[in-house]
Amino acid sequence: MKIIIDTTENVAKRAAQLYVDLLSRNPQAVLGGATGSTPIPLYKELVKLNKEGVISFKDAKSFNLDEYVGLEGTHDQSYRYFMNDNLFNHIDIKMENTHVPSGIDISEPEKYDSEIEAAGGIDMQLLGIGVDGHIGFNEPGTPWDSLTHVVELEQNTREVNARFFNSIDEVPTHAVTMGIKTVMNARSIILIATGSSKAEIVKKFIEGPVTTEVPASILQLHPFVTVFLDHEAAALLEKKA
Ligand code: F6R
Repeated sequence: MKIIIDTTENVAKRAAQLYVDLLSRNPQAVLGGATGSTPIPLYKELVKLNKEGVISFKDAKSFNLDEYVGLEGTHDQSYRYFMNDNLFNHIDIKMENTHVPSGIDISEPEKYDSEIEAAGGIDMQLLGIGVDGHIGFNEPGTPWDSLTHVVELEQNTREVNARFFNSIDEVPTHAVTMGIKTVMNARSIILIATGSSKAEIVKKFIEGPVTTEVPASILQLHPFVTVFLDHEAAALLEKKA
């Protein structure tokens, strides 16, 4: 794992540079997207670079990590809505090339893996991390060989995400998420963690044992992972190189 520690602002800029590098090498790259608070500064940077003509997404494809079960893409808390609102509506990607798992038709979630494979596989998967170590919605205990599947959300994850809803009762109880294997199949991975609330889990997933109790710890075994941390998220790391 390559670990990069910088200011919160520079983390977004330096992560955006990886998109510039990838898309200039391969304009048809397949990008893996994430939602949540963490990627917002990165998406702002990508929108800016796209408007400035530094980067183009016109031949790129994207596959998002996850979606809440029961929310239509038009619901303002769905992850489809989030992606359109924060990124896709503001860049030159073709909407038909953007993919978010369906939270409505959940009959055969693993079909999403076949779609990713048919597109040639993910070149660069973006990840955030939950305070319990989840990636996507793969909560502690998720098997390493999991493909896209439906999960019941942990109470803690629902509480953390309740800030986006009127009340916790409105937070969906289930989500559909790429599995750990789906994520590990990506050719390269970027994980971003910012803020002091992530410091403990950052230390665990980077310096602790590889265990299903910390889903992100599996990334220690992937050959091309870049972890971007701000100083607050990196605060408890022993080795800050
Ligand atoms: C979002 C996702 C989640 C988040 C994680 C961190 O698509 O898959 O794993 O990355 O919950 O969320 P934030 O960035 O809001 O702290």
